[in-house]
This record gives sequence, C-alpha cells and structure tokens, in this order.
Amino acid sequence: MNPYESARMVADYLFFHYADFAEAARGLPVPESAWGFPRRVVAGLLDSSTPLQRALDLGCAVGGSSFELSKSAASVVGVDFSRAFIDAALALQKSGSLGAEVALEGARKQAFQARVDALTHRERVEFRVGDAMSLPEDLGVFEVVLAANLVCRLPDPARFLKEIADRVAPGGQLLLATPFSWLEEFTTPGLWLGGAPASGESFHVMRDLLHPCFELEHTVDIPFLIREHGRKFQYGISLGSRWRRR
Ligand SMILES: C[S@@+](CC[C@H](N)C(=O)[O-])C[C@H]1O[C@@H](n2cnc3c(N)ncnc32)[C@H](O)[C@@H]1O
Repeated sequence: MNPYESARMVADYLFFHYADFAEAARGLPVPESAWGFPRRVVAGLLDSSTPLQRALDLGCAVGGSSFELSKSAASVVGVDFSRAFIDAALALQKSGSLGAEVALEGARKQAFQARVDALTHRERVEFRVGDAMSLPEDLGVFEVVLAANLVCRLPDPARFLKEIADRVAPGGQLLLATPFSWLEEFTTPGLWLGGAPASGESFHVMRDLLHPCFELEHTVDIPFLIREHGRKFQYGISLGSRWRRR
C-alpha cells in the first residue's frame, strides 16, 4: 500500500502544512525558522514579479503550497498520487478548515484544526489525483511548476526531470525543493540521481539533466520540521532551486 494513503499520514501532513508553530513546538526548543515549509518553499523560490496565470503543484499532498501559490497565480492545479491526501485537500478547499488528531505520547493524541490562510484564494485551486510521472496530455502547460520534496519519492527521477520541460511554458519557472533523501522503498538505487558511492552530487546530476531546457536562476537551503510525536521531530534541509524554461 502507498504509505501516503494512511490516516496517520493524512493527519501528520495536515499538521505539517497547517499547524501553528506554537501548537507543534509546545514550548520545546525546536527551530521556528524550520516551521511552515509549504509557505516558505513558495516564498523562497517563486518569482512573482510579473502576473502569473497557471501554476502546477506536483505531489501537493494536502495542499498547503497549492493554496500558497493561489496568492500569486490566477489558477493552480494541485496533483497528488494519494487519494486520501487529495480528499483532505478538497475538504479544506470547501470549508477552509479540517479537524485532525496527531500523536502526542503513545496512544495519547493532540487534536488540532487545520486552517487555510485567509489571504489565499481557495477558489482558484483545482485538486486532482494523478501521477507526476504520467500527466494527462490535456493538462497543458504552466508558467510555474512546483515539485516540493517530490523528486526523491519518484520511481525514475531522471525521466521526470527530462519530461517536465514539456509542462513549463517558455520563460516559465520550474521550482524544485528536495533533501535528496534517497530510499529503496521509492526509487531503485540504480536510478538515484547521484547518491551512489562513485557518482557525483545529486544536485550536479540534476543540473546536467535540466541544463538543455532550463537555466538555473536561484538556489536556497530550505529547512523543514515534520513532527512524529510530541517530543520527536524530523529535521531536513531541502535544496531549493528555480529554473527558467528557455
Ligand atoms: C514527501 S511528500 C511532499 C508533499 C508536499 N509537496 C510537501 O512539500 O509537503 C511527497 C508527496 O508526493 C506524492 N507523490 C509521490 N509520488 C507521486 C507521483 N508519482 N505523482 C504524484 N504525487 C506523488 C506523495 O503522495 C506525497 O504527497
């Protein structure tokens, strides 16, 4: 079963995308600067200096970054493989909030209410179940394509990076963020970008794959915190990059 279909994952991602820092940290000395990843990934990578029409959020999970993109783009399509994640995103879109419970200590849970930022435009977003490796032709092209923490969850990241150029309009932006957390569970080791003992760095392999169609404009480290329970957090640092379609 896809791990992203479980009720536990849905609750954890609702918390990751929508909980306040105070209710996540509960006074513990975890870094506030690493909280709010879906908002910071868009703020850190998107060039919003010109009006944007269509944006695509691939691997959107429960929709945090898709709603964030709606502040700058006239329409946003959020696509995820997980039916359960998309159902949660659709519920949030409909009413603006959704209750969930996350682990605190053992079987003891913390209830919280996921709320979509009132400054976003929920009505501009369309959520779909779909496969980033095989997008329908009729989806068209976009001025912005975001793939946040997706690349190292794909079965063939190199193929994805080669084919994604077809989805980005000339002059458009491809926004990538990845901690390059390669796992056999998601990607056969032979298909990791770098990450093998004798290969180059993952980012260099990525750059070489994107170079024929894109120009690298900007890189930034984007830390994130995912809470596993009340006193356990996963701290990661995604490498964010913005690529301009030639
Ligand atoms: C590590 S999570 C990142 C979610 C979100 N972008 C974020 O930054 O929090 C990876 C997401 O990609 C989705 N995913 C994995 N493989 C996918 C695929 N082939 N097509 C679309 N979504 C996929 C998963 O269901 C999950 O929601």
